[in-house]
Amino acid sequence: MPRIITTVAEWRDRRAVHRTAGRSVGFVPTMGALHAGHAALFAAARRDNDVVLASVFVNPTQFDEKNDFELYPRTLERDTTLMAEKGVDVVFAPSVAEMYPNGTRYAVTESEYSRELCGAHRPGHFNGVLTVVMKLLQIADAERAYFGEKDYQQLQLVRGLAEAFSLPTEIIACPIVREPDGLALSSRNARLSPAERALAPQFFHILTTAPTAAAAAAALAAAGFIVDYVEDRAGRRLGAVRLGQTRLIDNVPR
Ligand code: PAF
Repeated sequence: MPRIITTVAEWRDRRAVHRTAGRSVGFVPTMGALHAGHAALFAAARRDNDVVLASVFVNPTQFDEKNDFELYPRTLERDTTLMAEKGVDVVFAPSVAEMYPNGTRYAVTESEYSRELCGAHRPGHFNGVLTVVMKLLQIADAERAYFGEKDYQQLQLVRGLAEAFSLPTEIIACPIVREPDGLALSSRNARLSPAERALAPQFFHILTTAPTAAAAAAALAAAGFIVDYVEDRAGRRLGAVRLGQTRLIDNVPR
């Protein structure tokens, strides 16, 4: 089983030992509720590094809806079993006070791209993500950190963060993992009703096959999705839709 630690000081002590021994660290930040998409990130980190550190922290500052934060699944025991299977060595599972020792007085902001696409529909979300990722990358002090391409805008913003602040950690992107019917894996899929789950793969299929972003948005709406946006940007088609209470995001190459 991986060692579970809850304080920054504990990891710093271990990190110093690994550094002295010349061992590389691969870091996978998560909010828990793990699935096969996370397992692929752990596998990539295991392949590239001597030590794998994962964090499990449901970050309050990236939730634009209080209810969403409270309902977010917290399944540390089950998550730890998956991490053990995938060769994670250490799990950093801090409290909110450990991560935000001076509240939210200090924060990272991005003033352009974070306000577009998902950011236009979830005000403040990406600044919360960037703030916690900055903190986690500083704490982990890893050679490499692994992020999934499903959260494509997040990935690009994290790359921008690393560049803007000259962070020494290499940001590694991992491909989207899908269900056999095409639905991108997400912790939120568990919230879909059986009827919503049956419809959900149409999101991927319509994004992939529609001739234009506008045609994709129209086809999704006709199929029963509430469409937040579909846009083609720099060789990818990105979209976000709602099915009942659940928001789904996905992206495909164009
Ligand atoms: O992608 C996620 O799970 C979260 O946004 C992250 C990167 C762990 C930050 O809380």
